[in-house]
Amino acid sequence: MLNPGLVAMAYIIASILFILSLGGLSHQETARRGNIYGMVGMAIAILATVLSARVDAYALLIPAMIIAALIGAFVASRVMMTQMPQLVAALHSFVGLAAVLVGFATFLDPGSDYVGAEQVILEIEIYLGVFIGAITFTGSIVAFGKLHGVLASKPLLLPARHILNLVAVLVCLALGAVFIMTDTTSTAVLILLLMTLIAFVIGAHLIFAIGGADMPVVVSMLNSYSGWAAAAAGFMLNNNLLIVTGALVGSSGAILSYIMCRAMNRKFISVILGGFGSSGGAGPASEETGEVIPISAEETAQLLADANEVVIVPGYGMAVAQAQNTVSAIARSLNAQGIRVRFGIHPVAGRLPGHMNVLLAEAKVPYDIVLEMDEINDDLPNTDVVVVIGANDIVNPAAQEVPDSPIAGMPVLEVWKARTVVVLKRSMATGYAGVDNPLFYKDNTRMLFGDARDSVEKVFQHIEQAR
Ligand code: TAP
Repeated sequence: MLNPGLVAMAYIIASILFILSLGGLSHQETARRGNIYGMVGMAIAILATVLSARVDAYALLIPAMIIAALIGAFVASRVMMTQMPQLVAALHSFVGLAAVLVGFATFLDPGSDYVGAEQVILEIEIYLGVFIGAITFTGSIVAFGKLHGVLASKPLLLPARHILNLVAVLVCLALGAVFIMTDTTSTAVLILLLMTLIAFVIGAHLIFAIGGADMPVVVSMLNSYSGWAAAAAGFMLNNNLLIVTGALVGSSGAILSYIMCRAMNRKFISVILGGFGSSGGAGPASEETGEVIPISAEETAQLLADANEVVIVPGYGMAVAQAQNTVSAIARSLNAQGIRVRFGIHPVAGRLPGHMNVLLAEAKVPYDIVLEMDEINDDLPNTDVVVVIGANDIVNPAAQEVPDSPIAGMPVLEVWKARTVVVLKRSMATGYAGVDNPLFYKDNTRMLFGDARDSVEKVFQHIEQAR
């Protein structure tokens, strides 16, 4: 059993490790170290909490922890990197549900007798914690469904959706006032239950209203909500570490959402309110027609060998096909022949922030030839060949050319400005946002159809044979 002083010290060390972890995770070079800080911090936090004087129900706690750890390890070992966003969404829903359950438990059994102002503060904490937790819970479940493909990713835009949300929030506020004023426990529980149900609906409705290419912002926004839900649970449980950790997750999630909103040219407030003021992806997908010019792997290799400047744009399909190692080998081979090869990365390429950077780092592509969209876009008109590998939405000119497109206004890699663009994909299918792509029909575009890994392997063989 640890005395309170030791627990407090362990909590401070864990908090510092969490801050170092966030710092580490913000750069590719230090991300691994950041993860280690986070894991060590969490191990210290769990141990200190379990061994603190406030915990005694070990007969329940230890089996629950073992079962949970086994489930966590099993799920994490099986999940593919492309499925990470839905796993994260599922984990956020647990945080939300935990805040709701902690709220009800604290209300029914506060642990000590609170009176006067103390009781009002506790009741506000409980009410807020349950409210944020309930929104996070259903919002995350809907996000999981959309990301996993079990719910349509198209946004549901009810005609009076903002008024509906506003009325629901006002009703919750009014119920909150009654909750704090009433002295009858059964009435208070009933109000808490009613508010929870309304917050469940608000959470689901907010996320149903967002869709297509805006989903990455939703994941980071729910990350932020889950942090605030955890902080609220920390207040209810009088646990300083949970408050600090929740605030760290809440604020870093909000900053990430803001950064992603800027990258996607979306208004932060719009996304928080559920697609407010944007077309939100409701516009029609343009029915593209025209001539598509196919190309063979051999011709692609020849184009690359004749080029001086090559830019490779990877997307979700490269991750699915696990083509990154061969792509890296192509870049090295061309480089050895005096051809400058660089990579252009869109901030939401793939299915999670930094997805492409992780894959390229894994394939030992040097950081200095991996450029952000803003750094490479101006160079694309002077590029001989752009090779788009399993990317679609992030190179879609409809974002600039079709005003009512669901992705209108989203910044994209302007690959069509290069002399020649070769697109590697299996078919003419749309990308995540479900929008047709006029790039495939442009005069300077060539389509290399097939699984990205097969295609790059064939291209690589031809490049090597020609050397
Ligand atoms: P997408 O627009 O989803 O396009 C990927 C393309 O890859 C598809 O059109 C598909 O065409 C092709 N593909 C799939 N498997 C392939 C394979 N084995 N071999 C070759 N091609 C394959 O991807 P993107 O351009 O990377 O854009 C990302 C999208 O995901 C954005 O809309 C973004 O908003 C969304 N999103 C991103 C995140 C984050 S945080 N990055 C999170 C959630 C959603 P075929 O079927 O014809 O092969």
